Parts: sequence; structure tokens; C-alpha cells
Amino acid sequence: MEYGATLIPGDGIGPEVTEATVRVVDAVCPRIRWERVDAGAAAFDKYGTPLPEAVLESVRKNRIALKGPLTTPVGHGFASVNVGIRKALDLYVSLRPVDTLPAVRTHHDNVDLVIFRENTEGLYAGIEHEPVPGVVESLRIATSAAWSRFVRFAYEWCRYNGRRQVHLVHKANIMKLSDGLFLEIAREIASDYPYIATKEIMTDQLFMELVLDPTPFDVLVTDNLFGDLISDLGAGLVGGLGVVPGANVGDKYAVFEAVHGSAPDIAGKGVANPIALIRSAAMMLDHIGERAAAARVDRAVRVVLEKGEHLTGDLGGRATTREITDAIIAEL
Ligand code: NAI
Repeated sequence: MEYGATLIPGDGIGPEVTEATVRVVDAVCPRIRWERVDAGAAAFDKYGTPLPEAVLESVRKNRIALKGPLTTPVGHGFASVNVGIRKALDLYVSLRPVDTLPAVRTHHDNVDLVIFRENTEGLYAGIEHEPVPGVVESLRIATSAAWSRFVRFAYEWCRYNGRRQVHLVHKANIMKLSDGLFLEIAREIASDYPYIATKEIMTDQLFMELVLDPTPFDVLVTDNLFGDLISDLGAGLVGGLGVVPGANVGDKYAVFEAVHGSAPDIAGKGVANPIALIRSAAMMLDHIGERAAAARVDRAVRVVLEKGEHLTGDLGGRATTREITDAIIAEL
């Protein structure tokens, strides 16, 4: 059986790390038929829009996509294409595993966290306006419908994957209505899963505790903005942005991407670490039921890290993107 998968190379280091990832996936699962489409700055230059309809059509057809990072202009210019894709395809869950990797120097060992971030609402709904000059309002949207399906997804995932503890991460002391709604709905859903211990923690306290000792935490369930921040903190706990994978999932479609951005400071130099996107592709393989292939990729990455002979600059080595990718393929 063949699988179609949309490939969005992205901006900055995107084309370098997606090319590396495609080589790894093709080596382990040649049944993937890639359909390349442009989004982001590359598409804007070519088509005058950063998110051509053809991108969405391709993902709707293939149902899965592997996406490189996309540059978002700060404070002006087009709206975030990442947010646009998530909204258009209703990818309401962002799923980010953060775990300790062999031989990657970090402050803590045995980190094994999974971060669930609601992907469609909150402050990141991006609803802003300026009612009078010099006054800007950003609306934090929270609906029971969005919270319900998101929290249910997270608990079902925990059940399926044998996870035993969930922390609901909130600031309901300040945002009494919006985070209050989250807690009310999450407590109700949690009661259907008595074998999963549910705890509640304030976002600021969580940040402090993660820095001091992340090992007691298992699964974190939280809103769009908090989840974004916690994901980068989580990446820092296990070796940086170059190694942490991610997925955006809805009921019909799933888009797999690294947590990192387009890294303009190292773009075009051939030195970006492709591991985060390669591990995102392993999540994609797992998602479509190619479990053995996913496990082979995961193992090969770990062996290469453990050997430490072909590490990119962010991991303290001098290898190029191509060299570390060759090493991973050799271990498959
Ligand atoms: P960034 O993640 O691109 O870079 C932060 C730092 O991490 C830089 O020093 C970079 O060199 C390093 N880094 C990131 N990925 C790396 C890798 N694979 N290997 C080695 N080093 C790596 O974050 P930044 O600079 O804040 O954002 C740059 C652009 O990316 C912005 O336009 C931002 O909007 C966009 N972005 C896109 C994302 C996406 O498409 N999912 C996610 C985050 C940011």
C-alpha cells in the first residue's frame, strides 16, 4: 500500500532539514509518496500569498503532512501561516513529547514529558483590534466545545499510551472565567479516567518546578499560549530546539513538524540539526500505523547520539546536516 504525504519544505533551514528527513523516511518506508507544496515566505514570493489554497487541498487529500518551519514577520506583514494551517484544517491538538536523549548534555536525566496544547483558541486566536489609537485589545477566546474535544483527546491518548498522570496547567486565579471553564470541563472529563491521576498546577509554578526538577511530571494539558511557552522550555530541558518533535492533530488531518523555527541565523549553511524533524516524521509513521519503521528511526537517532561521532553544532559537534543524516541512515 502507498501513502500520500504532503511535504512543506518551509523557510530558512526548512528545506535543509526536510530534505534530510525525506532521505531517512524513504530509507525506512519507501511506500510514502511525497507531494511537495510551498507555503510561507517562499510561497509569498511566488504566488503573493503565504498560504496558497493548493497547500490545504494537498493536506486534505493526503490527510498527513510533514512541514518545515515557516517564518512569520514580527509585528507587521502576513499573519502566521502556522496558525492559518491549524485553523483551516482544524488541527486542535498540539502534541509535543519531550524526553531525555542519550549523550545529549542536559541538567536533568530521565525527563519524559508529553505536552498537550490547545491549538485553536486562547490569546493565539489572534483576534486583536485597536478601538482608539494607542489602545489595543487582544481577545482570549475560550469555549466549552473546544476545551471538551481537546481534553478528551489528551485523556484518550494517555489511556492508549499507558500514561498515568496528567497536570492541568492554568492561571484560573487570574483568568477566572476562561481558565475556570477549562478546569471545570477538564475535571469532568478526568472523572471518566479514574486510573489516571489528575493534578492541577499554576503555569508560573510549573515553570519553576520544571526548571528545578522535571522528572515527576508526565503529561501536561494546557492552553495555546502556555503550551507554546512550555514547549520551548521543555526543549531546553532535553537538549534544545534541534531535537524536539511535534504534531498538530485534528479529527481528519495531522501535520507533523519540529518545535523549532526557521533559524535564519544558520539558514543555508548546511549545519542545522535535522533530528527534531526526523523524529517528527517518526511520529507521522507511527500515526499511520508504520510502527516498526517509526521505532527503527527512533533507535537509529538514539544510536547516533550515543556514539557522538556525528553531532551538529547545537549538540556540541561539528557535523553538517548531511553527515548526521548519513549516520542515521547507516544505523537504520
Ligand atoms: P528558531 O527556533 O528559528 O531559532 C532559535 C535558535 O535556535 C536559533 O539560534 C537557531 O539557530 C537555533 N535552532 C533552531 N532550530 C535549530 C536546528 N534544527 N538546529 C540547530 N539550531 C537550531 O526561533 P526564532 O529565531 O525565534 O524564529 C525564527 C523564525 O521562525 C520566526 O519567523 C518565527 O516566527 C518562526 N517560527 C516558526 C515555527 C514553525 O514554523 N513551527 C516555530 C517557531 C518559530
